[in-house]
Amino acid sequence: MDIYEAMQKRMTIRDFSDKPVDESVIEKIINAGFLAPTNNHMRDWHFILLNDREKRAKIIEQTMKQVSPKAAQGIVNRWGLTDPSQRDMYYDAIPKQVSMLLTSACLLLPCFRQEANMLKPKSLSDLNGFASIWLCIENLLLAAAAEGVFGVTRIPFDDERVQLKNFLNIPAGYEIPCWIALGYPADNARRASQVQINVKDRIHRDSW
Ligand SMILES: Cc1cc2nc3c(=O)[nH]c(=O)nc-3n(C[C@H](O)[C@H](O)[C@H](O)COP(=O)(O)O)c2cc1C
Repeated sequence: MDIYEAMQKRMTIRDFSDKPVDESVIEKIINAGFLAPTNNHMRDWHFILLNDREKRAKIIEQTMKQVSPKAAQGIVNRWGLTDPSQRDMYYDAIPKQVSMLLTSACLLLPCFRQEANMLKPKSLSDLNGFASIWLCIENLLLAAAAEGVFGVTRIPFDDERVQLKNFLNIPAGYEIPCWIALGYPADNARRASQVQINVKDRIHRDSW
């Protein structure tokens, strides 16, 4: 598939069908992730595949809390969001945080090497490892789209992230940027439309 077509096709999906994703497809997708640029040339990335359903459910139960659609409305109001498409996205997304991880055919936890304190960086370059893993993740999502596989990234809350590192024996010096849930979309999967941007309005020539 052409790269532009994969970009057009990629979208966030939080409703998955039961169809499994072949392990060879997952490897191909992760391999595409490893083609991304890195700050230090090292590609010091690891992926934990949480495919054991029981273990997955236990970890999710111990680290996350289900939020009801009603509570999601309260959260969105507290955040003071006004854009209707953004509000709609959160109304749909917040109550699905647990189910999307439980039901995805494949659940990945990428890990990257992080020397400095990620939450108290002293310079932009302290975040180079974090930036690089997100390039890897975007490559992976695009490759997935090319395979007909879609999904979602979830940013773990701080205590969730610390607990995950313990439960999964992630070595000191490695961090988790997000969960990645992947699978084939359910027939009725909700697809939020992207906010439309006129690129010409966002390009500033010679000065803003
Ligand atoms: C850095 C980042 C963090 C995100 N965090 C979450 C998240 O915690 N939970 C979730 O359901 N979706 C999350 N998303 C998915 C976004 O909600 C989604 O990408 C956005 O609504 C645009 O939709 P699209 O991916 O279909 O274009 C995240 C995406 C990015 C890039």
